[in-house]
Amino acid sequence: MKLIVAGSTGFVGTEVIRQALANPAVTSIAALARRVTTVPQSTGPGADTTKLTSVVCEDFERYPERVTRELAGADACIWLIGVTPSHLKKMPWQEVRKICLDYTVAGLAASAQLPRAPASKPFRFLYVSGANAERDPRKKPWVLGDYCLLRGDVESRVLEHAKESRGAVEACIAKPGLIDAPGRTGLMMKTVQTIGRSLIGLPKVDLGEMAAALLEQAVNGLEKDTLLNADLVRIGTKALANLPRYSH
Ligand SMILES: NC(=O)c1ccc[n+]([C@@H]2O[C@H](COP(=O)([O-])OP(=O)(O)OC[C@H]3O[C@@H](n4cnc5c(N)ncnc54)[C@H](OP(=O)(O)O)[C@@H]3O)[C@@H](O)[C@H]2O)c1
Repeated sequence: MKLIVAGSTGFVGTEVIRQALANPAVTSIAALARRVTTVPQSTGPGADTTKLTSVVCEDFERYPERVTRELAGADACIWLIGVTPSHLKKMPWQEVRKICLDYTVAGLAASAQLPRAPASKPFRFLYVSGANAERDPRKKPWVLGDYCLLRGDVESRVLEHAKESRGAVEACIAKPGLIDAPGRTGLMMKTVQTIGRSLIGLPKVDLGEMAAALLEQAVNGLEKDTLLNADLVRIGTKALANLPRYSH
């Protein structure tokens, strides 16, 4: 299968790429980002780096022919472009909204229209949101309320798009709590994680399990339209246990 990883230069994207390179079911990876995606470090001996194509896009609301040509024929997309809470203070709210909402909506519309082989299965779109994203505007969380509602709005729009696609698109919302990578999480992220966990009791998923769960769903099909943190741990743990040791 051909897989698009949007946000391939990020924390989660890098691990998804690393695992996808070693996954024989993934024959081609279009790594979509605003800058070049390089082969991750510590790829095991089972990794086939020739599967990776870096696709640079300057504006995720517009997809020029040069970009859609590289993405054409994809079977699934894992969408990881977003603003994490630790970056919220660095940019105006309108920018956060554009990256989280407008980019995702435009990216889904563009990827759903990509040329595909006749009689292909529905296009799978996995949107990575967060455990505390809230779809109901009346239930604004007391911590990061506007941000949680924004991410919840994106979730609703992604699911709505799939519903209205009449079977052309299947969507899944992944709602991880804190994504943990022991030894690889910076001081800033560690602080945010500690506050998040103690203040609002966020659940936790290991980075390897998270990436494995996303890949498993992209390759084998979506279990349901929303995967909570516990689902991601369960699916990811099982997927990793079934892999050869070198790709962990
Ligand atoms: N990390 C966690 O613990 C955690 C927990 C729950 C949910 N999530 C969600 O999971 C998703 C991925 O998280 P992550 O930790 O991998 O985030 P990350 O490391 O910040 O990566 C985000 C990706 O989005 C891209 N991006 C950010 N701003 C952009 C912009 N203005 N234009 C184009 N691309 C832009 C980044 O590109 P550059 O590399 O060029 O900056 C990167 O490829 C996010 O939606 C996040 O909210 C993360």
